[in-house]
Amino acid sequence: MKETIKTLITSSAISKRIDELAEQIMEDYAGKTICMVCILKGGVVFMVELAKKIKNPVLMNFMDLSSYGNGTTSSGEIKVLMDLDEPVDGMDVLIVEDILDTGRTLNYVSNLLKSRNAKSVKICTLLDKPDKIGRKQIDADYVGFSIPDEFVVGCGLDYAQKYRNLDYIGVISFEEE
Ligand code: IMP
Ligand code: MG
Repeated sequence: MKETIKTLITSSAISKRIDELAEQIMEDYAGKTICMVCILKGGVVFMVELAKKIKNPVLMNFMDLSSYGNGTTSSGEIKVLMDLDEPVDGMDVLIVEDILDTGRTLNYVSNLLKSRNAKSVKICTLLDKPDKIGRKQIDADYVGFSIPDEFVVGCGLDYAQKYRNLDYIGVISFEEE
């Protein structure tokens, strides 16, 4: 299959939006240390870019979960592949994720960190697919862009582990060769 990627959001639009999100986050977290929890692997590119624009003290923590295999649809079940190595009790946690799709991952992580007595838990996602069928009732506190329900790659998002390093977001399509 030939993979074709069509630009949906340009690199400069992403940078501009990240600046805006950082401004808003700095206002909301004034005087606070932000305990970022990056959802691997997709959230890592966005978290790094966002964190660099924030002047507050920022802690970087990582968690790896699985919901997708190597395809383009969610398998439904969430597994913790790698847990945090620091406690989050009493922390102002900001979960940083690449995309809010069915919402299962963020719903799961958010409840898990609340149950560990984080002082506050908010969600920051680069992309949101609000029209997803079967979408969980979960809202992100900070959203970069709302996009249609299409499979996208770039800026941390992969197809079969590829394309995470693209500096733009693109819609991938497949054709017989
Ligand atoms: P959810 O649990 O269904 O919200 O899925 C969240 C995870 O699915 C994200 O962290 C992504 O890794 C993956 N995902 C969902 N939609 C896409 C997409 O369009 N492209 C790449 N990965 C996606
Ligand atoms: Mg992911």
